[in-house]
Amino acid sequence: MKLTVLHYPDPRLRLTARPVKEVRDATRQIADDMLETMYHERGIGLAATQVGITKRILVMDVSEDKSEPLVLINPCILDKSGVIESNEGCLSVPGFYEPVRRASRIEIEYLDRSGKRVHAEWEGMHAVCAQHEIDHLDGKLFVDYLSSLKRNRIRKRIEKQRREIA
Ligand code: NI
Repeated sequence: MKLTVLHYPDPRLRLTARPVKEVRDATRQIADDMLETMYHERGIGLAATQVGITKRILVMDVSEDKSEPLVLINPCILDKSGVIESNEGCLSVPGFYEPVRRASRIEIEYLDRSGKRVHAEWEGMHAVCAQHEIDHLDGKLFVDYLSSLKRNRIRKRIEKQRREIA
């Protein structure tokens, strides 16, 4: 089932997601719905807070041909190093792309769709996307890394677009 993606500055995007206690069928259903929504919206990542679910679940697929879906439950970054700057966008901030600096390499641990613990070292797009999505689970958006001037300009344009649609 396709879910509705919340748009900045919806206050629900600022909530902190809670850890998943046990990976069950209901958890997998949420992850599958999130993947369906992410692919439909042509995103490379989606966090549960973006669809109004305050659980620490995120999905991503940074492959060229959209063939590598990843489900991360209770993701935790154990170590980060290096710096990479890339143009980031977000399904909750539609139409805006701005350069953001992040660690270029991360060591990460999470539970996969079956509840198995996974330990991985990622760099490049995998690392950037995971950091962006984990931020969402802590109520943080990529626009928070921009100047307040830029952030306010984006917020006003999104609010104007919404008024025009309504
Ligand atoms: Ni995002």
